Amino acid sequence: MDLTYRPRRLRRTHALRSMVREHSLSASDFIYPLFVHEGSEDQPIGAMPGSRRWSLENLIREVSRAWELGIRCVVLFPKIAEELKSEEGEECFNENGLIPRAIALIKRELPEMTVMTDVALDPYSCDGHDGIVSQDGVVLNDETIEHLCRQAVVQAHAGADLVGPSDMMDGRVGAIREALDDEGFEHVGIISYTAKYSSAYYGPFREALDSAPKLDSTKLIPEDKSTYQMDPANAREAITEAQLDEQEGADILMVKPGLAYLDIIYRLREESELPIAAYNVSGEYAMVKAAAEKGWIDERAVVLETLLSFKRAGADLILTYHACDAANWLKEI
Ligand code: PBG
Repeated sequence: MDLTYRPRRLRRTHALRSMVREHSLSASDFIYPLFVHEGSEDQPIGAMPGSRRWSLENLIREVSRAWELGIRCVVLFPKIAEELKSEEGEECFNENGLIPRAIALIKRELPEMTVMTDVALDPYSCDGHDGIVSQDGVVLNDETIEHLCRQAVVQAHAGADLVGPSDMMDGRVGAIREALDDEGFEHVGIISYTAKYSSAYYGPFREALDSAPKLDSTKLIPEDKSTYQMDPANAREAITEAQLDEQEGADILMVKPGLAYLDIIYRLREESELPIAAYNVSGEYAMVKAAAEKGWIDERAVVLETLLSFKRAGADLILTYHACDAANWLKEI
């Protein structure tokens, strides 16, 4: 055949392919989510094989292992004892709570590791919502934000480098920025869960924290989070959310979940100059693990291909439970 263009010329050898490769992964792209609990033994999480609820002592070991592998940021999620949960989730701003202690410990042992937090009420709420639920079943916006501001300030005080509001209340980024600045934490950044969808992919995470919405006979509890998290049918709305977060002072924008929302990552990349993070969530992790356990897919190849797809879509950072495995595999390539 008389062909001028033969794209296969540049695919012919390993060396040529590596020369024209457009995107790559590195361990410093990853943010590693870790679950902590009060106990002294680690606990397995059924739907998330390979992940655990870490004891504080073993948490430090795992964070050190991540650092050795080149991972530069961890995000912490607490499993709060049932007796500490309340309707308004006040435990979230307890200075001696599990998260402030975990942050302080990491900062003492590994001061260079970037510590990110989650700002929302759900691990602390007996109703299992990210905000305060009124008697008639409304998730209250402005009242919730007061608690979130206190929570973010307590986390910053304990040493957090980045706070991550994941609650989707309107106006929370601006309010948290102001609260942090008022307390002298101008240097603490906000990584905002900007486009967070009301997604079934969070199932395993809610099992890990026992934080799913709980129906109650004394009060009306919304059974899902669709009055504050975004409708999976909407894309333009993500741009509005991004513009608001940017105006309110977010430092990094996040899209969540990742895989089913690559178009949203791409759109935000086009719309904003801020760094973009993608959250490869618990349900995405569970699906890969389940298929790999059955021998139906090649876990390593699928994970690296998936993580690369977030970079190709325009993400700078990836929150992923595969972080340590992926960092190990990248060393072998
Ligand atoms: C809570 C929060 C959730 C996740 C991160 N922060 C769950 C939710 O909104 O119900 C999900 C993470 C995952 O599924 O991996 N605000």
